[in-house]
Formats: sequence, C-alpha cells, structure tokens
Amino acid sequence: MDIKIRPWRMADAKNLAATINNKKVQDNLRDGLPYPYKIEDAKAYISAMRKAKKGSQYAWAITVDDAAVGSITIIRKDNVHRFTGEIGYFIAEQWWGKGIGSRAVQDVCAYIFEYTDIIRIYGIPFAYNTGSCRILEKAGFALEGTMRKNAYKNGETVDTVLYARIKE
Ligand SMILES: CC(C)(COP(=O)(O)OP(=O)(O)OC[C@H]1O[C@@H](n2cnc3c(N)ncnc32)[C@H](O)[C@@H]1OP(=O)(O)O)[C@@H](O)C(=O)NCCC(=O)NCCS
Repeated sequence: MDIKIRPWRMADAKNLAATINNKKVQDNLRDGLPYPYKIEDAKAYISAMRKAKKGSQYAWAITVDDAAVGSITIIRKDNVHRFTGEIGYFIAEQWWGKGIGSRAVQDVCAYIFEYTDIIRIYGIPFAYNTGSCRILEKAGFALEGTMRKNAYKNGETVDTVLYARIKE
C-alpha cells in the first residue's frame, strides 16, 4: 500500500465526492459542506484549491496507489498568528484504521516545517473524536487543552480539544 500526499487533480473529484458524501465523515467536520455532496461540489473545491493563493492555503489529496482516499489541508492564520497553520483532514470510511491518516499528518507536518515559514501547526478535533486525537498524538502534537462547549454540532454543544506541534 503506497500512501502519499499530492496536489489535487480534477480526476479525483469522483472519489472526493464519495468520501465527503458520508454522514460519518461530515459528523466530524465543521458545518457548511453540502449534503449530499455532488461531483460538481468536488470539482469546484479542487478548482479552488488549484488556484489558491500560494502560501496561505495548502491542500493535498491523500492517496493510496495514486487514488485519492482523503484530504488534508493547512490554512495559514493571519495577523499576529501568521506563522501558525491549522490542520484539517478526512479519510474515506472504507480506508479508516489502516494508518493512512497518521501517515498523512506526519508527511504534511514534515513538508510545512521544511518548506514554509510556519512554525506552529494546530488542530481542533471534537473531544469525542478519539481517532483524530490519536493521529495527532502519534504525529507529535501535544494536547494544549480542552475548550469546553466550544462548538455546536448536530444539535448539541460539544467540547473541542486543542492539539499543537511546534517546529523543533
Ligand atoms: C479521524 C480519521 C482521519 C483517522 O484516520 P485513519 O486513517 O483511520 O487513522 P489511522 O488508521 O492512522 O489511526 C491512527 C490511530 O487512531 C486510532 N483510531 C482510528 N480511528 C479510531 C476510532 N474511531 N476510535 C479510536 N481510535 C481510533 C487507531 O487505532 C490508531 O491508533 P494506534 O496506531 O495506536 O492503534 C478518520 O477516521 C476520518 O477521516 N474520520 C472522519 C473525519 C474526521 O474525523 N476528520 C478529522 C477532523 S478533526
């Protein structure tokens, strides 16, 4: 199994749509994605990412044997936080539990710290998202705290947890 991250291609739209068009994936993401999520939505996303301003938004497909099975992004924050990036990711459900998310987070951190001036990467999973917390821990992120009642998701107020990794 050859796990990699690479730039998005328009041909990935079908896999991207199938991945996001899953309530179990969307339940762990922020609100705002269409549901159902159509191939046109995926094409619009890929097109936007391919045109995204260099240095402010980094987006990769996560691939297994070159087929897109997930997504990972780093969004640079602004103003006094401009050397900080927020990480976000998801994997198609049929590929969960195979080490793909862990590998992608580690590869992206290595890239960002080597090739950009970002020195801090953080992620804010819902506190109940143990899989996401685990992949951040495995990638060297430290738990910096629990943000109580920090989000409203699916009709419930939930805690989120803040994980961060600093460039050594
Ligand atoms: C969270 C997610 C990215 C994990 O990706 P993945 O490729 O399945 O993760 P990995 O296979 O690398 O697993 C890493 C670790 O997490 C653990 N893990 C994964 N899913 C888990 C779950 N649901 N419950 C408990 N542990 C879990 C694995 O056992 C593994 O730990 P180990 O190596 O100590 O055994 C994936 O489940 C997903 O896309 N979920 C929906 C979207 C989402 O939650 N995105 C993150 C938003 S913050």
